[in-house]
Amino acid sequence: MSFNRKRPVISMIAAVDDRWNLAVDGRLPWKRQLADKNYYLQKVAGHTIIMGSTTYAAADHSRKGNRIVVISRRSFKEFNLLEEDVIDSIEAILTVEPQTEENEIFITGGGSIYTAAEKEIADRIYLNIIYTDSSKTGKEIKFPDLDNNKWKLVGSEKIAADQDNEFPAKFMIYERIN
Ligand SMILES: NC(=O)c1ccc[n+]([C@@H]2O[C@H](COP(=O)([O-])OP(=O)(O)OC[C@H]3O[C@@H](n4cnc5c(N)ncnc54)[C@H](OP(=O)(O)O)[C@@H]3O)[C@@H](O)[C@H]2O)c1
Repeated sequence: MSFNRKRPVISMIAAVDDRWNLAVDGRLPWKRQLADKNYYLQKVAGHTIIMGSTTYAAADHSRKGNRIVVISRRSFKEFNLLEEDVIDSIEAILTVEPQTEENEIFITGGGSIYTAAEKEIADRIYLNIIYTDSSKTGKEIKFPDLDNNKWKLVGSEKIAADQDNEFPAKFMIYERIN
């Protein structure tokens, strides 16, 4: 069914370390960052979340409440999902039908999806930098560089380290201007 209505805002939401790593050796580069976790849960609550098949395979799906759409070139039968919830290209994100009254949908990773969606698809980015100051080495998966001519910083909040947050952080919001 197609509705003659405005498409929802397409937002990317991610957290990176101070070298813009999303993951090192397949793991987040930090252990305890409660403010980041809560921020993510609060932003995506009740919304459709869209992710690549690797992130889908690695994520814990026991918490309900989000419709999940997976991006994969494989058949939907390989996932525990409905046919309409597996899409086969980045461009197909534009065709994801929002749930009733949903004005924002979220791309939640991983690296290959953020890199592709940053080029033209995403309208907004929620990006949290965790100042890990780590010298961790390994296979790095990076968030794409953001060009000032393309993205405008519209929000920035500093988070101090404390017993729930191993490292200080900065939570930023960017809007596409080009
Ligand atoms: N720090 C953060 O905020 C954050 C957030 C999310 C994920 N991560 C991390 O990111 C890592 C995963 O990132 P990743 O880049 O390896 O994998 P990914 O982006 O999650 O998934 C890659 C898969 O997505 C599908 N795909 C990618 N581009 C496609 C296209 N143009 N058309 C159709 N399908 C496409 C392919 O699936 P098929 O092979 O099935 O065809 C591909 O193998 C994990 O370590 C995860 O922990 C970090």
